Amino acid sequence: MEKNIVNLEINIENLNVSIDNNGLLKNINFKIEKGEVVALVGESGSGKTLTAKFILGILPERSVVAYDNFCKTQKIGAVFQNSFTSLNPTVKIGNQLKRLYQSHYGNYGDWTKKVVHLLEKVGITNIDKFLKKYPHESSGGEKQRVAIAGALIADPDVLIADEVTTALDLKTKFEVINLFKNIRKELGITILFITHDLMSIKNFANRVYVMYKGEIVEENTCEKIFLEQTHPYVKRIIGFSNTLWTRDK
Ligand SMILES: Nc1ncnc2c1ncn2[C@@H]1O[C@H](COP(=O)(O)OP(=O)(O)O)[C@@H](O)[C@H]1O
Ligand SMILES: [Mg+2]
Repeated sequence: MEKNIVNLEINIENLNVSIDNNGLLKNINFKIEKGEVVALVGESGSGKTLTAKFILGILPERSVVAYDNFCKTQKIGAVFQNSFTSLNPTVKIGNQLKRLYQSHYGNYGDWTKKVVHLLEKVGITNIDKFLKKYPHESSGGEKQRVAIAGALIADPDVLIADEVTTALDLKTKFEVINLFKNIRKELGITILFITHDLMSIKNFANRVYVMYKGEIVEENTCEKIFLEQTHPYVKRIIGFSNTLWTRDK
């Protein structure tokens, strides 16, 4: 019989982070198993991005960090809300992806094959033409897709998506979420989806952590969190989003 081995991609036990004597992350316990979509939800300033930065090892140098245990897979990719603003406006999209390939693999190797494959996966059509475009010649949704393709170049085991749908209109938002569903299904990548928008994770995430003022105040499966909550803040936001989505009688 096959053993039921839990395969942890990320495990954090009792993490505390302070910057300039402000306790910004407090007693964070957090884990992601292989193949999961885990959502990290919370209002602006609650500590979501700092948690992602800790995982990626890019906290500000003056941060004071303590934890009981931390382990993670080597290969973690990340896309941030403003990833597309980091696209260089004066360099064609194809050349930017080519350079990104080179920065990961040390050579240009088979960059076209890889990049075309990934752009197909993220739903870009007419790829030959697209690669010759400058960033300003593509839409917001396309730029976000390029950022996602860029994060996939290094074949990550885990992809962290931090507020990637925040600046997008509703239609594009759902397209990008569907894209993440496909990335998980077709490429087998584990996803940490960070957002302040609770509704975007419905029918998408497996488990949810809710952050409030630097702490994880609630943890549950995605199905259950919409039905039962213990922390007052979580009750409030779920109640609010349920009201928003309920038709007046
Ligand atoms: N580099 C930094 N220096 C000092 N404080 C920071 C820094 N980055 C974030 N913070 C503070 O940490 C808290 C959490 O920030 P952040 O993780 O970015 O929140 P979120 O992503 O949930 O909106 C905020 O109060 C923010 O002001
Ligand atoms: Mg943030």
